[in-house]
Amino acid sequence: MVVIAALAALVTSLVAVLIDWLPESASKEMDRIEFTYWFATIICIGIFSLVAGVIVYAVWTFRVQPDDDTDGPPIHGHTGLEIAWTVVPAILVIAIGIVSAVVLSKNADAGSDPLKVQVFAQQFAWKFEYAGGVQSKELVMPLDRPVEFEMESADVIHSLWVPEMGQKQDVVPGVTTKIVITPTRTGRFTLICTELCGLGHSTMRAPVRVLEQAAFASWLEQQGAEEAGSGEEGGDVEQLGRTTFGSAGCGGCHTFTPAGTDAEIGPSLDNLAADAETAGVPLEEYIRQSIVDPDAVVVEGYQSGVMPTTFGETLSPEELDALVAYLGSNGGSK
Ligand code: CUA
Repeated sequence: MVVIAALAALVTSLVAVLIDWLPESASKEMDRIEFTYWFATIICIGIFSLVAGVIVYAVWTFRVQPDDDTDGPPIHGHTGLEIAWTVVPAILVIAIGIVSAVVLSKNADAGSDPLKVQVFAQQFAWKFEYAGGVQSKELVMPLDRPVEFEMESADVIHSLWVPEMGQKQDVVPGVTTKIVITPTRTGRFTLICTELCGLGHSTMRAPVRVLEQAAFASWLEQQGAEEAGSGEEGGDVEQLGRTTFGSAGCGGCHTFTPAGTDAEIGPSLDNLAADAETAGVPLEEYIRQSIVDPDAVVVEGYQSGVMPTTFGETLSPEELDALVAYLGSNGGSK
């Protein structure tokens, strides 16, 4: 019995250790989550080995001989055994519960001086805003400093997750949810939406970069200077159109050669002039209508109700004008 149990323990331990179940940790929170996983896994391996040892041994040793139709011997309860198999699992489950509660509470603690980042999620794009109003499509974080995210959704439920950083939290319309991540190594990662939020859900990703604290400070300063600079010029419409195309997530669903996107969830924006002609609407008006009220005219071969109808509210009038101009001048020439 002991040999069988030891074999079961060996095989399950090898499966646990040799397969890369989780990505290499890149945050303090992920380290704690991994600890919890290992804590529960080791307990599970112990129990599985015990049960497998007893069952396999019993099946082999006490199996019925051919033609033996007699009843087995009557067995009465064994108080000591019953107390043991009630108390031991209770202690183990409580231990896992306590470890999980401690980890959850520590992972939610941003400390006294977190970097605050506002997160705006919408079908199908992420936007991050730092102190001083610096906005970015890329999530940039400093090394070894807790980052506290305050998250809002413009439409449906999304969920923020960077696999190497473990933490995951829903972004719910009408509610501000929070999550804390403390990066522990520099590098590039990918933020993934993990809540099925529509047809473009699988494209709803954002690049993540972790920088040394000094490098992060200069990145933030540079972003701030660039934004101030673009404001002084009175806003380059072409530039704003291009930025808006990116920040609104248009490329997640549409092919648009000038922007280098090739998604096929919605109609290609390279054919806008032809589509406007088919619809019998002037180009600019057609583009504006298609952004604000996407179901008014649906290109043949595509479904209505797929594109979010919230862009009229989420885009500023300047952004909308710039986007219409950008799409009209680049995609309408054919
Ligand atoms: Cu947003 Cu899935």
